[in-house]
Amino acid sequence: MKIIKAKTYKDMSRKAANIISAQVIMKPNCVLGLATGSTPIGLYEQLIDWYQKGDIDFSEVTTINLDEYRGLSGDNPQSYRYFMDEHFFKHINIRPENINVPDGTNLDVQAECTRYDHLIMDKGGIDLQLLGIGNNGHIGFNEPDSAFELGTHCIDLLESTIEANARFFENEDEVPRQAYTMGIKTIMQAHKVLMIANGKNKAAILKEAFLGPVTPRVPASILQMHPDFTLIGDEEAMSEMNL
Ligand code: GLP
Repeated sequence: MKIIKAKTYKDMSRKAANIISAQVIMKPNCVLGLATGSTPIGLYEQLIDWYQKGDIDFSEVTTINLDEYRGLSGDNPQSYRYFMDEHFFKHINIRPENINVPDGTNLDVQAECTRYDHLIMDKGGIDLQLLGIGNNGHIGFNEPDSAFELGTHCIDLLESTIEANARFFENEDEVPRQAYTMGIKTIMQAHKVLMIANGKNKAAILKEAFLGPVTPRVPASILQMHPDFTLIGDEEAMSEMNL
């Protein structure tokens, strides 16, 4: 586990963008696992900037997103597919056919989860997986539980997650109650995993996840076991890590 302390949100975003950029330069046809949330917005802005300057080319890259709300279609502004289009995809030269996000409109849970797992296998797995972290330690939408869920699955979101994500919706009632998420085994099989975290409200969970025991009660803690895991946090997020 490598832990990199960044000064600010901007510094965290640039450091993480450098790692993704290096991955794309070293392997132009790589598979990037991508994440949503407010944390990666600055990183995506940085990558867009480098793309516009001609420093990075996404024409051969494939992306596989972590999760999607069940029931939302990609043209719904609250969907993760829409978020990715707005914050990243429509600004770079990725081929539309190389973009993959779970299909929230497929209400057949088994069919959608199997489709997504097969798709990831067909692409040869993930070269670099980007992650944020939920306040309760979730990664993707792998919520705290008594066991780690291995493959893509449909999750009932916990009340704390619904509350945390309500800021993106008109009100809490509009937050979908279920989501599709890539499983822990798939994340752990990525060749490299990069987590970013910023702000005071992530300080306690980072300490618990990376200085505490590995437990499905704190899903991110499993990353302690990953052979190539990097955490980049800003000063506030790292404030309880005593580094
Ligand atoms: C959501 C996403 C996660 C993300 C988390 C943190 O629940 N499913 O992938 O890491 O929120 O979001 P934020 O970056 O806004 O703190």
